[in-house]
Amino acid sequence: MDLIAALDSLVPELEKGLEQAHTLDALEGLRVDMLGRKGRIARIMAALPTLEPSERPQVGQKANSVKERCNALFDARKAELEREQEEIALRLFDPTAPGRAPWRGTLHPDTLVTEEICRIFQGLGFTVASGPEVEIDHYNFEALNIPPEHPARDMQDTLYITESVLMRTHTSPVQVRTMLAAKPPLAVVAPGKVYRRDSDLTHTPMFHQIEGLMVGYGISMAHLRGTLTAFVRAVFGLGTKVRFRPSFFPFTEPSAEVDISCCICGGQGHVDGQPCRVCKTTGWVEILGCGMVDPAVYAAVGYPEDVSGFAFGMGVERVAMLKYGIGDLRMFFENDVRFLGQFAG
Ligand code: PHE
Repeated sequence: MDLIAALDSLVPELEKGLEQAHTLDALEGLRVDMLGRKGRIARIMAALPTLEPSERPQVGQKANSVKERCNALFDARKAELEREQEEIALRLFDPTAPGRAPWRGTLHPDTLVTEEICRIFQGLGFTVASGPEVEIDHYNFEALNIPPEHPARDMQDTLYITESVLMRTHTSPVQVRTMLAAKPPLAVVAPGKVYRRDSDLTHTPMFHQIEGLMVGYGISMAHLRGTLTAFVRAVFGLGTKVRFRPSFFPFTEPSAEVDISCCICGGQGHVDGQPCRVCKTTGWVEILGCGMVDPAVYAAVGYPEDVSGFAFGMGVERVAMLKYGIGDLRMFFENDVRFLGQFAG
């Protein structure tokens, strides 16, 4: 019976092979060679039909017991190898190695600046308000004294959703919503996202603004100046110079733009003899628009004629760029952690 002898010889051979297998891969190679579909046992069994039918059961039984024995040997060796590898891993682990610092997230500069500005105005008695980014034309334009023919309403500038629904182009509609919801006196700041059909090096389709509104009785331009001067010095430092330059907005009258002495060149117009790129040598940079609320806006929200107040609006990215000396607006939206990580608290 050479088939039985052949099967018997497999077990000691496997035992020897297993001793020399030191990896799980080598083990698997041996297993396929022995028990696989084209393995040693399968090849011996292929000769079964050449035997007398009476001899076949005995050889079949032998093959099964050899298979079982082989399986048991493989399992035992596998457990042994796994244990060995665990021990090696433990030995390689160095409990005295210094730890790796955990990754810590940081607040986005937009968030930092928004929080700082809101905190300053809260200190001056303002509360924080908000409004929707999807706005109706009436609040974004009409109630703010921006007539239908006004160029700001052009499809070129505004992202419309329907004829009368749009992405707000500024935070000023929160002025309207605030006044419709409350009686004077009131003072709010409203931070949020605004949208414009604009995209180049210095404009992004979405950016952030902070609106301010104070309405009451006997509020004058002097209050506007005092409030915004205090705000500017709180953000940019006590030495910052402030100037109010006449301007125009449909919803304020009179209107002004506020310039501060350039925080990059210290108002000198030059840095190390080179022309300052931020203020273009003028020594001044614009940071916000403001004015006394136009009576047409009070009329639109049903306020009495004897109220008075001021409003202002500023770009958060712009303030952040000036405050931190960030040269490129795109940095705010690229989410590069090498940039964002520099604002760790
Ligand atoms: N809404 C104006 C803008 O986006 C800014 C502004 C707000 C001006 C309030 C005056 C008063 O440019």
